[in-house]
Amino acid sequence: MIRSAVAGIGSYVPPKVVTNDDLARLMTTSDEWIQSRTGIRERRFAEEGVKCSDLAAEACRNALSDAGMTPADLDFLIFATLSPDHHFPGTGCYLQPKLGTGPIGCLDVRNQCTGFLYALTVADALIRAGVYKNILVVGAEVHSSALDFSDRGRDVAVLFGDGAAAVVLSPSSEPDRGVLYTELHADGRFARALYLDIWDISKKPYVTPETAATQDIWPQMDGKTVFKHAVSRLSEAIQHTLSVNGLSVDDIKYVIPHQANMRINQMVAQKLGFPEEKFLHNMQRYGNTTAASIPLLLDEAYRTGMIQRGDLLLLAAFGSGFTWGTALVRW
Ligand code: UT7
Repeated sequence: MIRSAVAGIGSYVPPKVVTNDDLARLMTTSDEWIQSRTGIRERRFAEEGVKCSDLAAEACRNALSDAGMTPADLDFLIFATLSPDHHFPGTGCYLQPKLGTGPIGCLDVRNQCTGFLYALTVADALIRAGVYKNILVVGAEVHSSALDFSDRGRDVAVLFGDGAAAVVLSPSSEPDRGVLYTELHADGRFARALYLDIWDISKKPYVTPETAATQDIWPQMDGKTVFKHAVSRLSEAIQHTLSVNGLSVDDIKYVIPHQANMRINQMVAQKLGFPEEKFLHNMQRYGNTTAASIPLLLDEAYRTGMIQRGDLLLLAAFGSGFTWGTALVRW
């Protein structure tokens, strides 16, 4: 039986560090408020002119190098982002020539904080079906251009950061290694709990100088609703993943959760009886990098030697849509 496994992983964050104190110079907030509510201390912001595909290209080169592959070895590319370079074409098409792959297919995935897990699931299915061999799966975001740094947007602006991370997924004939299981969910009734309205195709034309001057230009969030659902849906999905696979908390080496809010993840860990140290975090340094957050954390854990061959990892994400999901990966 063929499974897909991570053949290489890499990440990239822009060098500019923005601390909570830096944000407090732009809006009424404080390091104490941000850290106590979210766990975030700082994040990275891309400079003017840097596109999402630029961050992605760096991460992909690192993943290819880790896999010992060249861009010519790739058969397909899946790009997850909510901050595409432009509305169309898809950011995969902008990334492809930067990497210099052959004319391989490029699929964009628009599933926000769960984007990486949606992309991983599609890549895994394509590999198991024998359609493609080496698939590059990348999550990347440039949030810093689309955040309202005034007091009106402070609830959202302090949460997000820029970054990119990628994996090369390839066939593995080892029966118990690689992507063992995934589950994906969405509940579109909550689409308006976290959204960006500026591009509205029902308006003729879809954007006007008037709409561009409204709050529609910035993301809007009902933070309490997102928080409450994140805790419930993540807990249910992780519990379900364990039970259908006949696993217990002890079988999981680490949970690699989406990095939105430390308190969300701590509540989920507590609810399910996971020791806190099994839930890994790096949002303290990067904030919420949406589609990049899970592979960014995975890459860091791998590079620091925390993850060893054979470890069973449970990946879990929740975000705008609402969308959520899990994956079980044997490293
Ligand atoms: O991947 C999914 C992405 N999003 C999330 O996961 C977000 C989930 N939600 C959250 O993380 C939390 O709801 C937040 C961190 C966004 C907010 O925390 P909260 O404990 O729910 O605070 P709140 O919205 O109830 O606001 C409490 C107070 C309010 O002031 P008043 O009305 O009590 O006077 C806010 O105006 O905090 C105020 N506030 C801030 N104060 C300082 C909101 N944002 C800020 C800020 N700095 N940045």
